[in-house]
Amino acid sequence: MRIEIVRGDITTQEVDAVVNAANSSLLGGGGVDGAIHRAAGPSLLAECRTLGGCPTGEARITGGYDLPARHVIHTVGPVWRGGDHDEASLLASCYTSSMALAREHGCEVVAFPAISCGVYGYPLAAAAEASVGAVRLSGEKGPIECPAIVRWVLFDRACFEAWQTALTAR
Ligand code: APR
Repeated sequence: MRIEIVRGDITTQEVDAVVNAANSSLLGGGGVDGAIHRAAGPSLLAECRTLGGCPTGEARITGGYDLPARHVIHTVGPVWRGGDHDEASLLASCYTSSMALAREHGCEVVAFPAISCGVYGYPLAAAAEASVGAVRLSGEKGPIECPAIVRWVLFDRACFEAWQTALTAR
């Protein structure tokens, strides 16, 4: 599995699946959730309405509709509450659940945003470390568990630098 990081807008990614940092209702919101729904069009919300929500740490898959991506994988990150409420394991679970779902649907190239690093307030360095660690661990399990390429699409410079540091740290 190859890991890439780029700066940019995840809604423009021509990949098998883009991952959405959603909330548990799966009925849209601001941030990257809002951007993905705006770009995908109303059919995405219509499909999300049939899913009945999603618990924190889990993932659900839909079509990509007007996005260049074939699928959207919606995952719900933890809200940062100081770090002793299982935030790191819940965040890691967002990545492993999303990658397992991607594999089940034959998605070879998956783009992730910095889950929980906006409204949910997760500190960037801690988020990058937990996220990179989870993706690398899945990658070590071999092609059954993970896509061929995982690409982080980071909207702002601070996020990009945090992921760069985490990727070069080990
Ligand atoms: N492409 C890539 N990344 C983006 C984009 C975009 N178009 N727009 C925002 N981001 C980045 C933010 O800069 C942040 O680094 O996505 C990261 C996650 O931020 P949020 O979108 O706020 O997501 P999160 O912190 O997980 O909070 C989720 O926010 O939008 C609501 O419905 C959503 O309630 C949920 C909550």
